[in-house]
Amino acid sequence: MSVAVAIENLSIDFRVGSGRFSAVRDVSLSVADGETFGLIGPSGCGKTTVLRALAGLNTRWSGAISVFGTPLTAGQKITGETRRNIQMVFQDPYSSLHPRHRISRTLGEPLAVNGAENVDAGVRLALDQVGLSAAIAGRYPHQLSGGQRQRVAIARALLLKPKLLLLDEPTSALDVTVQAEILNLLNDLKAAHPMTFVLVSHDPGVIAHMCDRGVLMHRGEIAKALDRAALAELATR
Ligand SMILES: Nc1ncnc2c1ncn2[C@@H]1O[C@H](COP(=O)(O)OP(=O)(O)O)[C@@H](O)[C@H]1O
Ligand SMILES: [Mg+2]
Repeated sequence: MSVAVAIENLSIDFRVGSGRFSAVRDVSLSVADGETFGLIGPSGCGKTTVLRALAGLNTRWSGAISVFGTPLTAGQKITGETRRNIQMVFQDPYSSLHPRHRISRTLGEPLAVNGAENVDAGVRLALDQVGLSAAIAGRYPHQLSGGQRQRVAIARALLLKPKLLLLDEPTSALDVTVQAEILNLLNDLKAAHPMTFVLVSHDPGVIAHMCDRGVLMHRGEIAKALDRAALAELATR
């Protein structure tokens, strides 16, 4: 199987006052194409920091990262096909959707920018894929439930058919019943359109339900590699 993500000796520091804070140290991992790979660990252990580097949202890192065989370059934006291939879904869909744009615009703009011929049809299809009716297009984010907002955020991430979807605690802002619906939606979407997922969560149950493999992080480092059995075991503790 080919490699979707290869990370070697990734280290990330932040400037704090006059000093440096080491948020991620010497993280190495690889994710096979088609896998759902979990990053788990307590709040503050560096999960989001790893994901932001992988998404190109933070380019100040050292080490090596490659995505589908293309190396990312520290200090440089990700461009072209690799840019389109990597999409991210954030924890809080309320802050990740533009509050004053209707959903038709949030979903329609990326389609238009990328040359879609029929933007309205594209928006309807995108909504349908995540189980939302076409009527949602006319609404603003505040007129949707939390679960509906996260469905829109997922629809937006999938518009350009990415090969790698980075999911940062995608359900932790949602009610438990809605959480399960969103996780099942993600699994259904992955079954319908082959993708690789990297899923961040502090919840062992979520990781065990979703992931093929993963790593446990602790204070910026990988504490343990987790296979399926280890993931299941983690969830029962
Ligand atoms: N921009 C930043 N500046 C300074 N410290 C940061 C910044 N972003 C994250 N951190 C710190 O890095 C550590 C890891 O953060 P994060 O990756 O968000 O953790 P997690 O997602 O696992 O909860 C935390 O101690 C956090 O406070
Ligand atoms: Mg986080």
